[in-house]
Amino acid sequence: MPHTQHPHTPESDRPVESQGGHWILASVGKKVLRPGGRETTDWLLSKLNLAGADVVEIAPGLGTTARLLLDAHPATYTALDQDRDACEQVAHLLRSHPEWGGTQQKVYHVSASDTGLPDGCADIVIGEAMLTMQGAKAKRAIMAEAHRILRPGGFYAIHEMALTPDDLPEEIATAIRRRLAQVIKVNARPLTRPEWTEVATEAGFTVTDNFTTTMSLLEPRRLLADEGPLGVATMMMNLARKPEVRRRVLAMRATFTEYRDYLAGMGMVLQKREP
Ligand SMILES: C[S@@+](CC[C@H](N)C(=O)[O-])C[C@H]1O[C@@H](n2cnc3c(N)ncnc32)[C@H](O)[C@@H]1O
Repeated sequence: MPHTQHPHTPESDRPVESQGGHWILASVGKKVLRPGGRETTDWLLSKLNLAGADVVEIAPGLGTTARLLLDAHPATYTALDQDRDACEQVAHLLRSHPEWGGTQQKVYHVSASDTGLPDGCADIVIGEAMLTMQGAKAKRAIMAEAHRILRPGGFYAIHEMALTPDDLPEEIATAIRRRLAQVIKVNARPLTRPEWTEVATEAGFTVTDNFTTTMSLLEPRRLLADEGPLGVATMMMNLARKPEVRRRVLAMRATFTEYRDYLAGMGMVLQKREP
């Protein structure tokens, strides 16, 4: 097994109390940093014809999904992340796997709303756990950019946090978003499923499939499924050694538990509508 772990996790040079929750989790060894876990990623990938496709991954983070994408033998794989360390980790991962050499690979340090990629260059765009952390304007800009770089009929696969039920009163939604932002330290703006559908439809997509699961990112069963026994043991050891990080993780877990009935992990497959 090649060594693929880059020693530096993103934002690790910032004070623990201000690091984004996903990078806090990464700093103790968590690899799957998305609300619906590996289950939702597997569902999304099962809906996509990746072999021979031109695939763009928006916000690969630590490259966990990148591995699955590359294993499916796309013609090209392009990773885009606004975090320099994340880009380095993914580049490092790609270099460590010569068996993926049949796929042309590129990693760009750019924002997903302005990728610099040519129009219609991709068959598939995939982005997980990154739209939720954008405000309304940025969500629209990223959706529009995904639409621009896709060929007509191409697919945009998203994996995000949803608010439930669909008719959740706005004051509860606002309170949840505020609390999530406080504990995760990112601008967490989950939407209800109809709201996600509306943003996607306005950007020129049709929802072709969707999937919902619990938002149990830090629950024992999901942790085991996502990270495996060894991964969970590593996380526990790291948490025992890092009290400040442990406090942050416990605060996130308490918030996810408190709002368990209102949060979900959601996968959606969107197809670029013909003009
Ligand atoms: C929660 S992590 C998810 C990482 C990975 N997709 C996963 O599911 O494990 C969010 C990722 O989105 C990236 N990101 C956030 N906003 C972005 C933007 N506007 N453009 C590109 N990358 C972005 C972050 O740098 C980070 O790598």
